[in-house]
Amino acid sequence: MSTTSMHPAANSPQGSTQNSQQAPALPYASRHDQLIGSVIDASTTLLAAYDHDIVKFGMGAPAPDMLPSKDFARIAGDVFSPENFTYGETKGEPILLDALHEYLSSTGQIPPEQQGNLDRLLITSGGMQGLDLGFKLFVSPGDLVACESPTYTNGSATAMSYEAEILEVPVDEDGMQVEVLEEHTARTGRAPKVIYTVPTFQNPAGVTMSLPRRERLLSFAHKHRSVIIEDNPYGMLRFSGESLPALSDLSPNDPLIFGVRTFSKFVAPGLRVGWIDVDPEVRELAVNAKQTMDSCAAVPNQHLIARWLAEGGADSHVETLRVAYRERKMAMSAGLERLFPGEIRATDPDGGFFLWVTFEDETIDTEDLMPTALEEGVAYIPGPAFSPAGNFSNALRLCFASATPDRIDEGLERLRRAVDRYRSER
Ligand SMILES: Cc1ncc(COP(=O)(O)O)c(C=O)c1O
Repeated sequence: MSTTSMHPAANSPQGSTQNSQQAPALPYASRHDQLIGSVIDASTTLLAAYDHDIVKFGMGAPAPDMLPSKDFARIAGDVFSPENFTYGETKGEPILLDALHEYLSSTGQIPPEQQGNLDRLLITSGGMQGLDLGFKLFVSPGDLVACESPTYTNGSATAMSYEAEILEVPVDEDGMQVEVLEEHTARTGRAPKVIYTVPTFQNPAGVTMSLPRRERLLSFAHKHRSVIIEDNPYGMLRFSGESLPALSDLSPNDPLIFGVRTFSKFVAPGLRVGWIDVDPEVRELAVNAKQTMDSCAAVPNQHLIARWLAEGGADSHVETLRVAYRERKMAMSAGLERLFPGEIRATDPDGGFFLWVTFEDETIDTEDLMPTALEEGVAYIPGPAFSPAGNFSNALRLCFASATPDRIDEGLERLRRAVDRYRSER
């Protein structure tokens, strides 16, 4: 994919050039011009302004038909009681911590060495808060943060909000090219303080880091004492291929691994509940940091999830998701092959939500294509959103999880029309 690029945060796409020419009217903190936001999140507002039908391949959200909302409606009557509408403990509601620990242990998502150990878990307000806590704890202004290229926009943007310098490390079918990170470190003599990675069903590329790369990344981190933020929202949504151990499984109880997880992708994003799985000492600091953010995650929502997990709701639900997402991904891969033969390269994920599409014609600019696509009734996220340096202008991310196979076909046909129109009109 891209070549490695050093990206001092001052290169941020918005604000900095303007600010160097003209002093800001208000006495903002130095970090203000690195609050670049997220094209992904902004797309929700953008789409709300359209009143014609749009097939939404943009946001990485489960479709409404994939949410356990009937279970929630039933459970809500019990758990939405007055005592659950007050402040809760910052570390999370004990009932949720217990149910989560039980679920993770019974599904092999906590290494045996860590089982029975609740002092590693902290309930957060979504995966985003986990990322914020990780970067807040480990990044000082000017620190080098390595991320994948392409990377999850909100992750790199969070690092930038703490005034990190970003190093983009290219990704291929086997995930982050750790050897490029090693070469860069040897050449510059500067190792990243933090490595941000989504090793499993990566956002946006959908690829999974191979076992040798995982081992190599851990060796690199141990050698240089780099913290790894392992962001893993999609790991349990595997629908084909062999399971791979998480970095935290390969190196249990490793204080350098900061695990970020969320209920958003396998339960419901609107609940805004996630968790971190970190060294107990790190967790103490994270509790302090969270107390200056929001005191605690939404208490009624924590009880809702706790009850749902405790009654076994997740087991059949996750299986339903795997079956549906496999079908949707196959529909999307087949549709792309049928409608764009020889014109694109697309990744072939074994799980998660996303396909990454690159046009062979490098003059296609997916940001420029976007207005035509929206007019035709299809939304995606343009490639440059996933690179702090703005690479990948001829690529785009498609979410296959949000639409049924029929809607996927419809959306891809609209995309086909949009590309044809864009080509003939430019
Ligand atoms: C890789 C990755 N990390 C973190 C998040 C944020 O999760 P949440 O919606 O729970 O804040 C997402 C959501 O899209 C994601 O894809």
